[in-house]
Amino acid sequence: MIETVPDEVWQLLQDWLPDNDDPDRPVMTLATVDGSGTPDARSVLLSEYDRAGLYLHTDAASRKVAQLDAHADVALVLRWPEALRQLVVRGVAEPADRLETDRAYAARSPYLRQLAWVNTPAVAQLPPDERRAAWADFAAIHPVLDPPATWVGFLVRPTSLTFWTGDPDSVSHRREHRLTASGWTRTELPG
Ligand SMILES: Cc1cc2nc3c(=O)[nH]c(=O)nc-3n(C[C@H](O)[C@H](O)[C@H](O)COP(=O)(O)O)c2cc1C
Repeated sequence: MIETVPDEVWQLLQDWLPDNDDPDRPVMTLATVDGSGTPDARSVLLSEYDRAGLYLHTDAASRKVAQLDAHADVALVLRWPEALRQLVVRGVAEPADRLETDRAYAARSPYLRQLAWVNTPAVAQLPPDERRAAWADFAAIHPVLDPPATWVGFLVRPTSLTFWTGDPDSVSHRREHRLTASGWTRTELPG
């Protein structure tokens, strides 16, 4: 059976995160480990979420994808809205399906759609004025864009979700939902 989050977690995710069609996307810290166990982290956008988990998108040639291929366990940290809330997700990343990946590309801004094509090691080597020229040349030749073959998505299936709330008049607090062999558990923790 494919695990999905329980009702109360799904409700919390919907209360905490913007709708998938909201153009204002949360930024997440995505932590991975490489093949030798060395940790790494970077910012990525939360593209969308559903009861199966959280989706992110990136370049197939990127370091993070090599790390995910070697080691699918990840952690995500979201601060949304910035003040007084933190969501920490631990889980396992798997390739997202093509339909979802194409939908996420279509939902990105024109700038980010072009970035997925032009953000290459070769362009990165150029001085700034030549990078801008390469960007403008690409836009002039390609007014409409489909996703490049390097555009890939990952679904992070949660094994735990920790909802942290701050309170200026009281203690901070965490509610941790964890997937165990016998199902989902919920624990109240100090912040
Ligand atoms: C606010 C912000 C959002 C970002 N969103 C993404 C994203 O959704 N996908 C992506 O591949 N890179 C995104 N980046 C760039 C990554 O942080 C990172 O530099 C790049 O993906 C290369 O990472 P890697 O070498 O660890 O694979 C974002 C950067 C910032 C600052």
